[in-house]
Amino acid sequence: MIDEIIKVVKEAGLIMLQAQNIQGGVVSKEGRANFVTQYDVEVQHFLFDRLGKLYPTATFVGEEEETRNTSGEYCFIIDPIDGTTNFIMDYHHSAISVGLMYHGQMVAGVVYNPYLNELFHAERGTGAYLNGKQLKANDLPLAEGLVSIGTCPYYRDKADVTFALSRKLYDQALDIRRSGSAALDICYVAANRFVLYFELLLSPWDYAAASLILNEAGGRISTMEGKELPYTSGCSTIAATPTAFEEFFKLK
Ligand code: IPD
Ligand code: CA
Ligand code: CA
Repeated sequence: MIDEIIKVVKEAGLIMLQAQNIQGGVVSKEGRANFVTQYDVEVQHFLFDRLGKLYPTATFVGEEEETRNTSGEYCFIIDPIDGTTNFIMDYHHSAISVGLMYHGQMVAGVVYNPYLNELFHAERGTGAYLNGKQLKANDLPLAEGLVSIGTCPYYRDKADVTFALSRKLYDQALDIRRSGSAALDICYVAANRFVLYFELLLSPWDYAAASLILNEAGGRISTMEGKELPYTSGCSTIAATPTAFEEFFKLK
């Protein structure tokens, strides 16, 4: 079934690639610098429709305010465009994120950056892959890698804590980055591009698919209190190699 999900997600990527006049259709949402475009809505509708045909009884949770059929055993958790501000600014680093739960447990995840044609996917128990090549998160410490920070742009009250922690991580790591897509940040830990990523508040659609990809690659992910991700509500998130994960909790 993952192959069919991947096919649908890749088709949805064409909607992003073919988008015209993105800035002309921007609407503000709750919180500072929080926008939605007609393409976020279009990609979500496309995914709900096409994945709904593959899984007719599934529940659908998507960022753009729509939940369909809340009683299914399967539940899709979808961010149609993760990195909307990048998308609006023509900064080519955004992704479609599709997670699938079965009885409350993540069983599949697909994160796709159409600009680079990079597709991360995982199924529970069978490993994580980037464009079909298996991923294995190397167990590097902070000192040997890049750290990506999530700045909670819609919740500016979290900025002081975020930047104080970023400073501590910057002192330990090779350097820091701010990418603008939480789903890609987590997948990049799985792909050994980052050793650690954190953000003080994410929504389930930001982390669901990517969390399975990272776990299947051998990385670690939890809330910043060290608890399991809830998948039904927002939470802080730390994603890292096993060693950087331990280092993070000593640093705090
Ligand atoms: C946002 C991005 C961003 C992260 C925010 C998310 P959106 O998602 O993942 O990197 O810092 O917390 O909300 O709004 O672009 O889908
Ligand atoms: Ca998002
Ligand atoms: Ca989004």
